[in-house]
Amino acid sequence: MNTLAKLRLHDLAPEQDDFLGAVLDGLGRPHKTLPCKFFYDETGSTLFDAICDQPEYYPTRTELGILAAAASEIADLAGRGGALVEYGSGSSLKTRLLLDALVPAIYMPIDISREHMLAACHTLAQDYPALHLMAVCADYTRPFRLPPTAPQNRRLAFFPGSSIGNFAPLEALRFLKQVAQQLSGGDGLLIGVDLKKDPAVLNAAYNDAAGVTAAFNLNLLTRCNRELDADFDLDGFAHRAFYNAAAGRVEMHLESQREQTVTVAGHVFTFTAGERIHTENSYKYAITEFQQLATQAGFTSARCWFDDTKHFSVHLFRRN
Ligand code: AVI
Repeated sequence: MNTLAKLRLHDLAPEQDDFLGAVLDGLGRPHKTLPCKFFYDETGSTLFDAICDQPEYYPTRTELGILAAAASEIADLAGRGGALVEYGSGSSLKTRLLLDALVPAIYMPIDISREHMLAACHTLAQDYPALHLMAVCADYTRPFRLPPTAPQNRRLAFFPGSSIGNFAPLEALRFLKQVAQQLSGGDGLLIGVDLKKDPAVLNAAYNDAAGVTAAFNLNLLTRCNRELDADFDLDGFAHRAFYNAAAGRVEMHLESQREQTVTVAGHVFTFTAGERIHTENSYKYAITEFQQLATQAGFTSARCWFDDTKHFSVHLFRRN
């Protein structure tokens, strides 16, 4: 059988992000900032995969362990044979764990990167020949419609990796409300959420000894140099990451090591020594805090799993 006959692309032609506009806007602000979504060019995605393997970066392996231990319970609660809808491209081990446990009829990944998603789908189509793959090319941070599936295919939305933590709480609420709209009453949401914990553990996770997170952060400047005709001196900026307890988030910054000027596409920006560009927030939640957020978005908590150290949580919610 031609397994690829079971792969359909629903291309919603998402608008490409305006990288130059975002950089000029971010660097022009009194507190300079660059949006974290621009980390993920080819090098950035490879560096992120390497971060996930660092001993200090506990979220990936902890979530995987939770999912492996809970997989059959998740299937019992969420139901087998439905549609698994993943916000993200689904090339990870976590997706396969769920495909094995839930045996869904349909797998629907949603990603802005068409080629990356299709490559992941081709591999899955070979390994899961009975699975219908409905790849949706869309920017899931903006409103869009999911393609219809048969009503008997109950949907389980899956958003792993604590990617929800990279949204500010109000954006996270907006995103969860959008997911609720894309589901029907009784459908499920399975979401990985990093937890508040000893700041030393968080600080180590975002300052790995091998310097991979630092390289990931600095790659944003390399990308500006390559794509936007910028002249950032990579030695002139240093990676800074720390837990901000008052805001409940890990912050990443790039700190100017001296007074300097940088040109981006002909626009000149000045930096004082010690001035920072804020590049990422990674919000951490208490379990009840996240349940309250999901409740506000129209979900009811069905079950929450966490590891022995309570570093990471996986929540199953039911859409009201
Ligand atoms: C993708 N996201 C959930 C990661 C995080 O932990 O916030 C991105 C990351 N940034 C530095 N390390 C990992």
